[in-house]
Amino acid sequence: MKVQEAKYVMSNSDYQKCPDPILPEYAFIGRSNVGKSSLINMLTDKKSLAKTSQQPGKTQLINHYFINESWYLVDLPGYGYAKVSKGEREKWEKMIGDYLHNRENLICTFVLIDVRHSALAVDLEFMAGLGEAGIPFQIIFTKADKLKPNQVANQVEAYKQKLSESWEEVPVMYVTSAEKNEGRDPILQAIETYNQTFERTK
Ligand code: GTP
Ligand code: MG
Repeated sequence: MKVQEAKYVMSNSDYQKCPDPILPEYAFIGRSNVGKSSLINMLTDKKSLAKTSQQPGKTQLINHYFINESWYLVDLPGYGYAKVSKGEREKWEKMIGDYLHNRENLICTFVLIDVRHSALAVDLEFMAGLGEAGIPFQIIFTKADKLKPNQVANQVEAYKQKLSESWEEVPVMYVTSAEKNEGRDPILQAIETYNQTFERTK
């Protein structure tokens, strides 16, 4: 699938004020600074569609982008950012949690993991929460350009091992580099397949 058109729609703190939930939607979530916004820019081939920053905590709202006038990509704030106040962090967590649990047209959530890190409790707990709530997700490793290819493969394998300790089936995984523009096609392919299923079951 090609992204022919990608338009910013709106930013919200309340999932109920997001666009009408009638078209398929895919959200990007992960620790602050993991590269969610950069990945959205890579997938849409638009350098500054989503705002990115070297400073964690850049994305603070639920941001909708309308793709090919038929589905949405959603950029979310990161979790686990220690430098915001407790009150602020709880507000974000509630906003993200309400969105993920209640957004009826959310087809799949992509959980982003920095490929340089070994499995972190905060990510494992977040994914366990998704599993308990029955929210479908897949994993996208980011920043692959920061490691050598064999190191990337080792990291992914180690992550699979770790997840298989608690998951019967390990989620689908992708490896990406927004810096080098790598890993776009398999993700867009997965979205296209989901979109077709959505069409058929409408
Ligand atoms: P928050 O909105 O703050 O939660 O962050 P985010 O997850 O949206 O991350 P963002 O896309 O803003 O990227 C954070 C930093 O990582 C920026 O400096 C990006 O340039 C950098 N970055 C993102 N993806 C990659 C990548 O694939 N490779 C490299 N080398 N840097 C990346
Ligand atoms: Mg962001």
